[in-house]
Amino acid sequence: MKNIVVLVSGGGTNLQALIDAQESGIIKNGRITCVISSKPGVYALERAAKHGISSRVIPRKDYPDIISYSQAVLDAILEEKADLVVYAGFMTILDELVVRAMPNKMMNVHPALIPSFCGKGYYGLKVHEEALKKGVKLTGATVHFVTEVCDGGPIILQKAVEVMDDDTPETLQKRVMEQAEWKLLPKAVSLFCEDRLEVRDSRVYIK
Ligand code: GAR
Repeated sequence: MKNIVVLVSGGGTNLQALIDAQESGIIKNGRITCVISSKPGVYALERAAKHGISSRVIPRKDYPDIISYSQAVLDAILEEKADLVVYAGFMTILDELVVRAMPNKMMNVHPALIPSFCGKGYYGLKVHEEALKKGVKLTGATVHFVTEVCDGGPIILQKAVEVMDDDTPETLQKRVMEQAEWKLLPKAVSLFCEDRLEVRDSRVYIK
């Protein structure tokens, strides 16, 4: 059974999708052992508590720089004996010292079809605002391994979602979450826990 540590910063609907998938048996050979939040008081922490999952708060604002913050998060990940780390709406870009310690063992869900609308500065609603500004007819979500390049790691799963003429960033975000993120993330996590993901030459193959 693999230990899954989930990193959050906000509402935690993706964390909820993982908890629901765990409870309905969709995630095979893994369980969420700890939730780590970069902010105190966020709703994601309540979601964890409601389901008896332990949590830690490591506030970004308590650390003077990203290196010391990344080291604190890495220490917690190692203490929790994490086999997999999932960024589920985690809004801090950690230093590469974390990636180096957990190569191809960290995954992120991003609310667009990478390489569109991604990279530094593209997070949360901003991603959907930019998609609407550009006028794309399709957007979606991507689950990828985390590397030292922001949103640049090997792609595990992607799903396209239609953009409607009357979409606002909020309505588009909701559709992308419902139709793509909440389905893709539990699926990718289960594939990892079942040892079915193989990374070769920056590409992910599903065995
Ligand atoms: C999600 O849409 C997630 O994909 C996005 O933030 C939202 C968090 O929602 N993440 C990023 O933009 C990371 N670049 P949640 O807290 O309800 O899961």
